[in-house]
Amino acid sequence: MSSSLDLQPLNATFGAMVTGVDLAALDEDTWQAIHAAWLEYALLIFPDQNLTDSEQIALARRFGDIELIGGREIVPLSNVRSDGTLIDESHDSVKILKGNMGWHADSTYMDLQAKGAVFSARVVPPEGGGTAWADMRAAYEALPEDLRTRVQELSAYHSLYYSQSKVGHEHSENTDYIGYGFHGQDPPLRPLVKIHPETGRRSLLIGRHAYGIPGLDPDESERLLDELVEFACQPPRVHEHRWTPGEVVVWDNRCLLHRARPWDMTQPRVMMHTRIAGDRPHELAMG
Ligand SMILES: [Fe+2]
Repeated sequence: MSSSLDLQPLNATFGAMVTGVDLAALDEDTWQAIHAAWLEYALLIFPDQNLTDSEQIALARRFGDIELIGGREIVPLSNVRSDGTLIDESHDSVKILKGNMGWHADSTYMDLQAKGAVFSARVVPPEGGGTAWADMRAAYEALPEDLRTRVQELSAYHSLYYSQSKVGHEHSENTDYIGYGFHGQDPPLRPLVKIHPETGRRSLLIGRHAYGIPGLDPDESERLLDELVEFACQPPRVHEHRWTPGEVVVWDNRCLLHRARPWDMTQPRVMMHTRIAGDRPHELAMG
């Protein structure tokens, strides 16, 4: 195993900063070390990488298949059009950006939730616009024992219609937004406690897409899910990152929540997102 990884754990229950590697030119030993560190730390931050789109896609492919978003392997999460003009705040894509400021895991509203993501910073606003993550392994372990026992038996539906409606975004087919996740199928049901397929660790599978716990009335379900997120996303289980252009992050979507942080949307912010597909059967919905 290579010892070339210079790894600095973050001041949290998870996450590490990794320097001394070139993600565009990984040898097998370094890749193995990165993969092992990813499973252990769940969030790896790599400064000064400046990957091209194809290099970012190639990195993501090492972790698994790519989850296509609107048919694309890499998508901008951005309030800027390709011609450089700013996207109006009333546009559906900006409503999605705003929705993503709530804690969530990616693609839990699809039949196959995402395994992880590669995320890179291209254009960073002068203030705000960071990303925060929260460790759902540590959150599960920190739950009072009675609640940890209770959630073990529960599940929840996950829906982008639900989460976006809560931020005032009612999806319409009559839009030029690609609408990924508005699939019109029955919402998937997922356990509240996910067992990580590679580490065996349990974590809370919650966040803004989750609702409608079977066996609870809707208010009780919402109250419990809100309480769990409120409890889970507290120090030392959170890390907020302020971006520098050229940075690359890889996170494990099977055990972390994340959220974007607000910024002045008259300022451009361009992040490039590549979603790593979940593995079957582990990331499939129940049933
Ligand atoms: Fe996300």
